[in-house]
Amino acid sequence: MFKRISALLLAGAVTMTMAGCGGDGGSGGSAGDGKITMGFSQVGAESGWRTANTKSVQTAAEAAGVTLKFSDAQQKQENQIKAIRSYIQQKVDVIAFSPVVESGWDTVLKEAKNAAIPVILTDRAVDSKDTSLYKTFLGSDFVEEGRKAGKWLTEEFKDTKDPVNIVELQGTTGSAPANDRKAGFAEAIGTDPKFKVIASQTGDFTRAKGKEVMEAFLKANPDIDVLYAHNDDMGLGAIEAIEGAGKVPGKDIKIITIDAVKDGMQALADGKISYIVECSPLLGPQLMDLAAKAVKGESIPARVVTEETTFTQEQAKEALPSRQY
Ligand code: AHR
Repeated sequence: MFKRISALLLAGAVTMTMAGCGGDGGSGGSAGDGKITMGFSQVGAESGWRTANTKSVQTAAEAAGVTLKFSDAQQKQENQIKAIRSYIQQKVDVIAFSPVVESGWDTVLKEAKNAAIPVILTDRAVDSKDTSLYKTFLGSDFVEEGRKAGKWLTEEFKDTKDPVNIVELQGTTGSAPANDRKAGFAEAIGTDPKFKVIASQTGDFTRAKGKEVMEAFLKANPDIDVLYAHNDDMGLGAIEAIEGAGKVPGKDIKIITIDAVKDGMQALADGKISYIVECSPLLGPQLMDLAAKAVKGESIPARVVTEETTFTQEQAKEALPSRQY
């Protein structure tokens, strides 16, 4: 019964968000007026990054005159698959989505291909072998982000002889940023036995889960030197846990995070976080350009990598006043 009610509520939520964000509720498609209709399936609203990304896509669609049908998958793959099928049924001109996890997309992507609707992956990638199922992937190099985090750590502790005990808060299990940021970091810290990842668990990219898992880490491990969190939000939740345990974030435990959203940058400027690797959510304008080209059948690059930087505490102080998100 509960399942049935949830399914009905979910169906309602998808329809409502579509209607609320520029959807015409009709059959979609450019309908001969030259205007592009895009179906966009967002992962959720799990982090400050995601909120900024949603805003960037919605603002850019409006500026480009694109009719946006938007749905929020609440971090669930089945919701994204339903939304994509609904966009196919509505015959939108182009589908864009940020896949919550990497695997399990081939069937629905084949359905889009059979309907001749171009698909653009934005922010996160899929692991499909058949790359003809989508036109391009626009987003960050998550492996490189993990490497940058690991390089900072090895440099910071290069003169330390003692073991460096690291705990890791991973992003959503099975997601591209969680897989890649973990791999890039592991590669950068290498095989030096000094660096020990003593615990690694998912915090699902949320502040609440970051806090909860960090509390468990602190109870099980009295001697943590470093926290590597796959995003700012989990790092911010962990700061609450560290302070709750009577420790000083940034001093007793150095913290490295990824994203550089305003709250993260503030914690960096305040000395609670030690280093942030940027991951830009401002993908909207590039997405609209690529979508227009894909709809016209013009050739577009198979991969568009976002340009990003890193921030120390001093750099955060300088950047904060003009930070857009
Ligand atoms: O896919 C990008 C990641 O997803 C961001 O780093 C994180 O904050 C978000 O939830």
